[in-house]
Amino acid sequence: MSSNSAAKPVARAAPRPRPTLSIALKMTAWYALSAFALILVATGLLYWVLVDSMYHEDLRDLADNLNNARLLLSASPTGQMANTPAPRPSWAPTQQPEIYLRVLDSAGRVLTQTPGLSSELPPPSPGELAAIHSPQGASRETTSLAGGPFLALVVPIPGPHASDPPQYLEVAMDRAHDEYLLAHYRERLYLVLGVSLVLCSITGYLIARSGMRPIESISRTAARIRATTLHERIDTAGLPAEIRGLAKTFNGMLDRLQQSFRHVSQFSDDVAHELRTPINNLRGEIEVALSKARSNEDYRDILGSCLEECARISRVIKTLLFLARSDTESDALQRESVDVGEALTKVGVFYEAAAAEASVALCVAGATGIRAALDRTLFQQAIGNLVSNAIAHTPKGGTVDLAVRAIDGSLTVTVSDTGCGIAAEHLPRVFERFYRVDRARCGSEQNAGLGLAVVKSIVSRHGGEVAIDSAVGRGTRVTLRLPLST
Ligand SMILES: Nc1ncnc2c1ncn2[C@@H]1O[C@H](COP(=O)(O)OP(=O)(O)OP(=O)(O)O)[C@@H](O)[C@H]1O
Ligand SMILES: [Mg+2]
Repeated sequence: MSSNSAAKPVARAAPRPRPTLSIALKMTAWYALSAFALILVATGLLYWVLVDSMYHEDLRDLADNLNNARLLLSASPTGQMANTPAPRPSWAPTQQPEIYLRVLDSAGRVLTQTPGLSSELPPPSPGELAAIHSPQGASRETTSLAGGPFLALVVPIPGPHASDPPQYLEVAMDRAHDEYLLAHYRERLYLVLGVSLVLCSITGYLIARSGMRPIESISRTAARIRATTLHERIDTAGLPAEIRGLAKTFNGMLDRLQQSFRHVSQFSDDVAHELRTPINNLRGEIEVALSKARSNEDYRDILGSCLEECARISRVIKTLLFLARSDTESDALQRESVDVGEALTKVGVFYEAAAAEASVALCVAGATGIRAALDRTLFQQAIGNLVSNAIAHTPKGGTVDLAVRAIDGSLTVTVSDTGCGIAAEHLPRVFERFYRVDRARCGSEQNAGLGLAVVKSIVSRHGGEVAIDSAVGRGTRVTLRLPLST
């Protein structure tokens, strides 16, 4: 009893392929990022150089001012500065940094200073002053009470009298203007970086597109190719070197495909042709048999003849199936250690009767004890095909010789006859399927022209090769070379 509840195979959804980025997109991204990174590093470096230069420029400015102040102080007997700062001259550029002066005694007390400085910048602590040992003084970057950036330079100066302890002169600069300039510069820098990122992406995309264009053309050609347009090829002229290699490989593949396709269609033609003849014969015989009433004996004769045709058709189909399987299955050999001399003798015994009937002497010669890893059945089938050919093409009184030798790790089997031979122009084609030298000769109407094709297929599946040499009127020799072991 059949049951419907039998477990049905569960259809599993094929794993969805991982989405991948297109090459053009990847190239664009890589180009844009690397170019942008370079621009970023370059602009960063320039910005750093600018900041550094401005700092040193300010420092130089302070040093100049310090020197001037020193001169003024040494010229002023009181060492006092004007209480009111001079108004900014009209020609002075706006946003010019403010410079402040301050004189401190050795204990850090303010002796005099530019008005307003104390509300901007607290004086250095006595500890900071004590740490200044160099006559060049020390610079410090600091922030004002309001949080603005300041740069100050403090140097020791001699007191009013030679015996007095040293005093300190501090020159300070409000760097708000620098900050303002740098902020302005940064703003423009961001703009430039943004624009360059966009430009890099566009350029990268254009470069990637132009690089991919030849591949797109190959892809278009490939998409156009059908069984009827297998002659089309990719035009390799003008392609870049890397892509030209790909295009040539593709064209080579098309050459091979076209050749195989030609082979397959030729083969189908041959198959149709080969099967049509026996089927027509069969049909003709049946029609003749049915055309009038016949005796039992006549019917038996006709049926016997039909059976022969059927046997022939089935032989051809069996051989074709064998060849088709040989083309696809390479590992189906049943290898065993075969005594080759013994296998040849067996084939000889099998064909003895046929040889005797054709009045042909069949001799098996060669060293005994040669063993090789072969598929016994297939090997004997190949030798049988050669012997059958040799007997069929050797006139009465001729000889057919089978010989075996083992040289340098390879097995050489020869089947030679003293028959009619094969003309040189046919020799290259006799291993093709359905190829017969002379269809009218030696009863070849009964033969399909597949025997040598089978031999070649068996030998190449064993990893060997087959050769044929022949001279018209003198005979033919077929040589099989096979590896002794694999
Ligand atoms: N020993 C030989 N001497 C002369 N001609 C040969 C010999 N062997 C093969 N040939 C020629 O080569 C052709 C191809 O041989 P092959 O064995 O493939 O086919 P076939 O013998 O005609 O048919 P099948 O073997 O399928 O019955 C033959 O038709 C024959 O003309
Ligand atoms: Mg044959």
